[in-house]
Amino acid sequence: MMIQIAEARISYGDSPAILKDVNLTVNKNDWITILGVSGTGKTSLLNIIGGLLRPTAGEVEVEGRNLQALTREEMQEYRRNKIGFVYQDFKLFDQYTVLENVMLPQLPYDSHKKLEKQAIQLLEQVGLSHRLSHLPAELSGGEKQRVAIARALIGCPEILLCDEPTGNLDNESTKTVMRILQELHKGGLTILLITHDNSLASYGNRIVTTGDGTIVELDGE
Ligand SMILES: Nc1ncnc2c1ncn2[C@@H]1O[C@H](COP(=O)(O)OP(=O)(O)OP(=O)(O)O)[C@@H](O)[C@H]1O
Ligand SMILES: [Mg+2]
Repeated sequence: MMIQIAEARISYGDSPAILKDVNLTVNKNDWITILGVSGTGKTSLLNIIGGLLRPTAGEVEVEGRNLQALTREEMQEYRRNKIGFVYQDFKLFDQYTVLENVMLPQLPYDSHKKLEKQAIQLLEQVGLSHRLSHLPAELSGGEKQRVAIARALIGCPEILLCDEPTGNLDNESTKTVMRILQELHKGGLTILLITHDNSLASYGNRIVTTGDGTIVELDGE
């Protein structure tokens, strides 16, 4: 199994827990769609898997490694090499070109030449070979998200965490982005994807909903 969350609880400060009794096993190459109304803890759930947030109680294991036991450096390495993040608002750096944006996360850790080659390949994969030296401001929303996906892949992650990746996109760009995710999934990537669009759940093999302070998996059948 890829990810195992056991009896996890998430609370912020002294507030009551946002999520409790969270149990979830994610298998390699699962694609889990996370649905649930605003404020029910979807992003918080992704963040404990991504190592951006520690659960207040309980365990998160990824490939048998307990995330709580990692040192700061190990956690950074985990985030850099195992996890890719894709956000609703793209989070590209406006002052850097498309190619530079894709290379940036790994730039301190690998040779410029190797990263440039990888980034060009990834941008080709998302259909943006003709936009390498453009700035984000010169791209459509759909193109920006494709750059963000390429950037998320530069560390060759095994898990892609997508937080409403099509929330700002029109139908056509949504389809393009989902098709790209489908290809990546076929290539073996494990995907967790938050969405408010129930129809996108058909891309995945499992559905988890948040609400009433916990998560529930919907029956497959
Ligand atoms: N860093 C934080 N500090 C304090 N409270 C937080 C923090 N992050 C989230 N919360 C609170 O935790 C609750 C769950 O937030 P979360 O972002 O996980 O929900 P969500 O399901 O992703 O919502 P949305 O669909 O609006 O993105 C909310 O009430 C939110 O205000
Ligand atoms: Mg959210």
